[in-house]
Amino acid sequence: MLRLLLPLAGLAELLRAANIPQRTFGIDYDCNCFVKDGHPFRYISGSIHYSRVPRYYWKDRLLKMKMAGLNAIQTYVPWNYHEPQMGVYDFSGDRDLEYFLQLASETGLLVILRAGPYICAEWDMGGLPAWLLEKESIVLRSSDSDYLTAVEKWMGVLLPKMKPHLYHNGGPIIMVQVENEYGSYFACDYDYLRSLLKIFRQHLGDEVVLFTTDGASQFHLKCGALQGLYATVDFAPGGNVTAAFLAQRSSEPTGPLVNSEFYTGWLDHWGHRHIVVPSETIAKTLNEILARGANVNLYMFIGGTNFAYWNGANMPYMSQPTSYDYDAPLSEAGDLTEKYFALREVIGMYNQLPEGLIPPTTSKFAYGRVRLQKVGTVVEVLDRLSPSGPVKSTYPLTFVQLKQYFGFVLYRTKLPKNCTEPTQLSSPFDGVHDRAYVSVDGQGVLERGKSLMINITGNAGANLDILVENMGRVNFGRFNNDFKGLVSNLTLDEDILVEWEIYPLNIDGAVNHFIHGYPDQPKRSVGNPQSYEAPAFYTGILSIPGGIPDLPQDTYVKFPDWTKGQIWINGFNLGRYWPARGPQLTLFVPRNILVSSVPNNITVLELEHSPCSTQLCDIEFVDTPIINATTPYENDAPPLFVRDMWLSHL
Ligand SMILES: *[C@@H]1O[C@H](CO)[C@@H](O)[C@H](O)[C@H]1NC(C)=O
Ligand SMILES: *[C@@H]1O[C@H](CO)[C@@H](O)[C@H](O)[C@H]1NC(C)=O
Ligand SMILES: *[C@@H]1O[C@H](CO)[C@@H](O)[C@H](O)[C@H]1NC(C)=O
Ligand SMILES: *[C@@H]1O[C@H](CO)[C@@H](O)[C@H](O)[C@H]1NC(C)=O
Ligand SMILES: *[C@@H]1O[C@H](CO)[C@@H](O)[C@H](O)[C@H]1NC(C)=O
Ligand SMILES: *[C@@H]1O[C@H](CO)[C@@H](O)[C@H](O)[C@H]1NC(C)=O
Repeated sequence: MLRLLLPLAGLAELLRAANIPQRTFGIDYDCNCFVKDGHPFRYISGSIHYSRVPRYYWKDRLLKMKMAGLNAIQTYVPWNYHEPQMGVYDFSGDRDLEYFLQLASETGLLVILRAGPYICAEWDMGGLPAWLLEKESIVLRSSDSDYLTAVEKWMGVLLPKMKPHLYHNGGPIIMVQVENEYGSYFACDYDYLRSLLKIFRQHLGDEVVLFTTDGASQFHLKCGALQGLYATVDFAPGGNVTAAFLAQRSSEPTGPLVNSEFYTGWLDHWGHRHIVVPSETIAKTLNEILARGANVNLYMFIGGTNFAYWNGANMPYMSQPTSYDYDAPLSEAGDLTEKYFALREVIGMYNQLPEGLIPPTTSKFAYGRVRLQKVGTVVEVLDRLSPSGPVKSTYPLTFVQLKQYFGFVLYRTKLPKNCTEPTQLSSPFDGVHDRAYVSVDGQGVLERGKSLMINITGNAGANLDILVENMGRVNFGRFNNDFKGLVSNLTLDEDILVEWEIYPLNIDGAVNHFIHGYPDQPKRSVGNPQSYEAPAFYTGILSIPGGIPDLPQDTYVKFPDWTKGQIWINGFNLGRYWPARGPQLTLFVPRNILVSSVPNNITVLELEHSPCSTQLCDIEFVDTPIINATTPYENDAPPLFVRDMWLSHL
């Protein structure tokens, strides 16, 4: 069948005979294996997303992976993380992909690079930049010419940076994945895959192994596999390994068997139970995969954190929490788990485990409670959040139309009539993407797919303020083109609301300028613990205690009696908290964002209800994570989400 790549075994022999130093990696279709430097090679790899681990901890996590017996890692490149605005590129700090590759190489790990453009990954919009939606009718992941032009431009930046890191050029990258599970997407556009193949070859050359990954069935491989790209599959533990690899054989009758995503756990959604997959199930299937000589990538080996606004979502709309722990062998905070040692034992039956010490789990410190004080509501500090002022529009504009892609936007209009009696404010076309905090006489919340109508009261001419939160773009399936903000008209009774003033909000730019000080004694007033309050900012400071060695250490922040919001420490956006919905109650705080020399500045944006009026206005730093609390939609959730359940939605 397809002999697409150089018969590298033969080439390697020639080079050896000629005594030429060799660094080659390829596919041998006769031995059904990869060949590295002329020898049969099998990889046992683990996924780590550099975008979900602070740069400070990259080395620690990579070493722990190496010490588990892995000989490779797999990582995704999120396009939207590196090109935040069209033509503006960022490869610095936590985004320094080349430094990450260098560290992997120094650690003795090969790299399987999943370059996109689409990555899924439970990452905002599957890694595609939201600015692509400026052409409203764009067909993402297809031959749409505007989409392809943007892809070509991006790959023209990314791939030349990757070329020196290819294995045969002296770097760690042995294989590069093109697209991601394309067979699960409705478009089934072979011309698109052919265009990608051409772009990748043009920048990377003919020698590197390019591959695809799809669900392990002929149905998925039909639109996901393409001649010239080596077809691999993904599947979960507990299933029939023989049947799964037979699916790969339908596309690749010979060549190495590869499971590119062998799930060590699974993703969570707000409101649904935290998913746990027992180590024994994974160890058993891993053993079966390895026993047949197959290559495998454990997805995830460490999940890490969706810092800031980077989480994705699934349809029907459910967004993913800040933690991407994934119940992986290394926890969100890089801790060694019982699963780590169980899988290491299986790997040790096939690969020699490296000598030396496994880096220990980092210490966590319970800094205790920190008192916050209210700075003001979003509306009270509006001039600081939106220095350019509002955009005026008859009908609401989307985030993309405002060229603000993440976070929050304030939509304001005036009540056109007296609403003395409760009057219906509604979003008849489910156009609140994704959650709206409504303030007029009182407060209320509209939520995509869940709450499309509330009653309000107020006098004619009063401000109707609607703060809209983008809770993360859909990352899988046909609803990828996920516009944010008020994406359809709101109505008051039957009338469409018009004459909007829309304030783009640069909250991330403003939080550092808030005053952070020691609060006065808390003012206790009697409030209603159930009612919504206007979204507001709270600040406080965390001082690292003296006299204790090795501080600062990692910690977790907990929100006792807070409801939903976002938290920054020293300007670093840690992510969303939502204890009222769960299952995540604590957010991981890596030590690298804390300092001991001066107080650490904390800013909290509480969207619904703080404890401050009735209880202590405190958040609490603890040494143990809680990401598995009980949740309101526990019984709605299938016990384990599997890909094919998503597919049935398409
Ligand atoms: C696994 O799948 C293979 C191939 O389809 C089949 O022959 C075998 O009976 C299956 N094994 C089990 C335990 O279902
Ligand atoms: C609204 O009610 C006030 C009295 O509460 C009245 O003065 C005003 O004329 C009313 N406005 C409209 C538009 O009906
Ligand atoms: C809104 O008010 C109407 C009439 O006043 C009432 O029938 C309805 O139940 C209320 N809806 C909500 C969601 O409170
Ligand atoms: C809002 O309503 C107006 C008038 O019916 C319509 O022209 C416009 O397209 C609507 N806007 C959206 C975003 O649906
Ligand atoms: C916190 O803010 C104060 C000024 O309000 C500043 O002096 C201090 O350096 C800040 N702390 C950090 C860690 O940046
Ligand atoms: C959460 O996990 C911890 C630690 O594994 C366990 O002790 C606890 O019972 C779990 N809680 C729930 C509600 O499942």
